[in-house]
Parts: sequence; structure tokens; C-alpha cells
Amino acid sequence: MDNNDFRKHAHELVDWMADYFEEVEDYPVKPDVQPGDILAQLPETAPEKSESFEAMFEDFKKIIMPGITHWESPNFMAYFPANKSYPSVLAEMLTATLGAQCMSWLTSPAATELEERVMEWLRELIGLPDNFTGVIEDTASTSTLCALLMAREKATDFKANNNGVPGDKTFTVYCSSETHSSIEKDVKIAGFGRQNLRKVAVDEHFAMQPEALEEAIREDLENGCKPAAVVATIGTTGSTAIDPLEEIGKICSKYDIFLHVDAAYAGTALLLPEMRRMNKGIDYADSFVFNPHKWMFTNFDCSAFYVQDEALLVRTFEIMPEYLKTPEDERVKNYRDWGIQLGRRFRALKLWFVIRSFGVEGLQKKIRFHISLGQQMKEKIEAHENYELLAPVPLNTLCFRFHPSHIHDETKLNELNEKLLNAIQESGKLFLTHTKLDGKYTIRMVIGNTNVEKRHVEQAWKLIQQKASQLVT
Ligand SMILES: Cc1ncc(COP(=O)(O)O)c(C=O)c1O
Repeated sequence: MDNNDFRKHAHELVDWMADYFEEVEDYPVKPDVQPGDILAQLPETAPEKSESFEAMFEDFKKIIMPGITHWESPNFMAYFPANKSYPSVLAEMLTATLGAQCMSWLTSPAATELEERVMEWLRELIGLPDNFTGVIEDTASTSTLCALLMAREKATDFKANNNGVPGDKTFTVYCSSETHSSIEKDVKIAGFGRQNLRKVAVDEHFAMQPEALEEAIREDLENGCKPAAVVATIGTTGSTAIDPLEEIGKICSKYDIFLHVDAAYAGTALLLPEMRRMNKGIDYADSFVFNPHKWMFTNFDCSAFYVQDEALLVRTFEIMPEYLKTPEDERVKNYRDWGIQLGRRFRALKLWFVIRSFGVEGLQKKIRFHISLGQQMKEKIEAHENYELLAPVPLNTLCFRFHPSHIHDETKLNELNEKLLNAIQESGKLFLTHTKLDGKYTIRMVIGNTNVEKRHVEQAWKLIQQKASQLVT
């Protein structure tokens, strides 16, 4: 492919992309394929000879597209969204074109300095204290791993980095029983040991109980352990429960424990002044993460990771081989020392485009709208005698089940709701997912897709009721 071919095909692709965005809600949101269906259509060996762009693009349309789950569809209300927007996609095109490696200032000065500036913007926008400094990581899983590694180094007085995690002491980590699975994974990777993760009980709103946290810490101290880190969540994955940060922070401060805040999804809502109450007590946090790639209209991946103690972060990760030394090292940020990766994508560009294109007002308007749609849906579920909300709805995530009044048996209700979810998914018209809350099979509906409108929520509610009534007649 030469430059002329590239120009021609790029124009064709942009047309295809614009058509896709226009038509995406007409696609079945979840594809009708079985495991292995796509694999069976792909040759077992790579082609010896060059193939034309036309052939590749035809196969993309014929083989790949029918197997795509359309996260971009406004009928996608599953998991948490992985949103995008026009300015974000345009920035990703430029990023791919430049192919800049952002490991140190020298390898792309503009990328480093733009990252520094947009992270400052974002810090202001979500109301983090001024002494937080940010870096863009790929995911919240990685950001939390970085936080736990910082906590590990702090707790071991930097011995773990040099000698391995000391075996003469048990270092413990705390999170709630509703915390995202990435915390457990990160605890394993960071060398704390899975059995040293304490899953603290939650209250009736699925938020961590501070008293239970303190009790667990005291018990560990009595047993000679060293509590190293607490992970609090703003917006749990199951039901967007909000852990009481201020009370948790006071406990961490009392026992000198590193506090990390995981706001992967709900952090975007902090753009709204009226939602800042979720962040009360943030001053106690040592680190904080939220994902613009979830709800802030910025293509995956883009995770905003903030720390209070920049020196601790850099000391945890810094490594200085001769071939990476530059004359500017003393005067600049070399983001390779702010996390795990050496090579880093230029992610700040899409964030810059998104913030500038929407403007703060535009971002706030959309997020407020999503929350209002969530609250309207909440009222509908509450008002219906055959449906039951299973968790509070602080934002735009609904946790509910179908509960006809004549069914009292919990096992039957679980089976019924599982069937309902399957029927909804098979329709291809709506994609919802589930969790379990208090042992109850819970259908989750998240109304946060970039282009979701009231009519999509109304259609979704109609479909849920229609599928449910088919199950009981
Ligand atoms: C609360 C919470 N934390 C962490 C994660 C992991 O996010 P990532 O995919 O960016 O690692 C998720 C994913 O949904 C989440 O909901």
C-alpha cells in the first residue's frame, strides 16, 4: 500500500465510520454467533502474498462485523459503557498516524506536556485537591496495581523493590465485599497474597462499613500483621454504591495506611458540583483513579490516575538504564517512571479533544442528562408492582428484578430473572447484564451511552416488560 492508496482508502473508511455511527442502533446490539463461528471463517495460516485492501475490507464486513458487540449502540446498557465520541475518534486517528511513543519527555515533548496539562484540567474539573498529580494509565486495573505497589513500598520501607516482599511479616489489604475483581487480581500480582486481602462487610446500601474495616485492621494488628492499603470505591461495579470516604480516610490516617480510591466509572459524575458529595474525605486519599474511557466519551483506553505523593510514585517505579538517560531528565516528567509500561500511547490527545469539543458545560449537560434518565427509570421500576429495585440508584445504574407477586421462592425468582435476561439478550434489541446482590439474581441496566436518548430507555423498558410477561403466561 502506498501513500496514494492510503489516502483513497482512508477517505472510504471515514465514510464507512460516519455511516456506522449513524446506523449503529439498527444493528443487533449483541451478535447472534456461537463460540468458534468467527474462527472457522479465518484461514489457519497467514497469507504468503500481499492482499488488496478491498479484499481485507470485504472480509471485515463479512466476517468481523457480524461478530461485533456494538458498545457504541444506545441500546447497549450492559456492564459499564466504554464510551467514545466524534472528537475522541478523530484524535485516535491522529494518534495512530503519529505513532508517538510517550515514554519520556524527549520521545515526544508535546505528548508529555499535553498529558501534564490535561491531567491538571481534569483534576480541577472533578474537584480533586491541588496537591494531586496525574498520569494517564491504560486501565483502572493497572492504576490500582500502581497504587498497591506504592503502598507495598511504603509499608516495607522500599525493601520489597530491592529484596522481594519480606517474608517475616504479613502485609494486609482491605476492600469491601462489593469491590471490583481487579483489586483481588492486583493484590495477587503485587505480592501481598490473595489470602491477605480482607473483604470488609457492606451495609444495606452495599457500601463499606467503616466499623467493620476498623475491626479487621485491629484484629490484624493484634495478630502481628502490617495493614498496608485500603481500597475504597466510589461507584461499585455491582450497584454504584459509594463507600464512606471520610470515615474510611480517618481510619487510614489513624493507623497510617495507604488509601486508594477506585472511582473507575462514577468518577465522571464528579464533573457535576452537585455530585461532589461522593468525594467528601478525598483529602485523606493517597491515590485516586477514574476512567474517562468509561463514561467520559473518550475512547478506550484512558484511565486518569492521581497521587498525592509524586515522589513515592516515582521512587516505586523509576529505573534508569543508560540508553534512556536524557539531558532534560532533571527538568521534565518522564512518564515511564510513573507506572509499569515503558512504551506508552499518546492518550492525552483524545482527552484534550473531548474536553475542548464538549466544553465543560457540554460534558456536564450530558452527564446530568444520563443521571436524569436513570432517575426516571428508577421511578418507573418503583411504581410497577411486578418489579423490584434491589439497590439504591445514586447515579444511572439500575439494579432490579422481575418479581410477580405470586412468586415468593428465591430460587424460582433467580431462575426467572436469569431467563428474562437471556430472552432480552437474545432479542438483539437491548443488551443488559447481571450481578448478584445479597444472593439475588440482579438485572443491571446502565444508562450512560454517549448517544442514549429518552426513547431508547422507553423502548428498553417496554421490551423488558414484554419479555417478562411472555415468561409467566
Ligand atoms: C469499580 C471498577 N473498578 C475497576 C474496574 C476495572 O476497570 P478497567 O477495565 O479500566 O481495568 C471496573 C470495571 O468495570 C470497575 O467498575
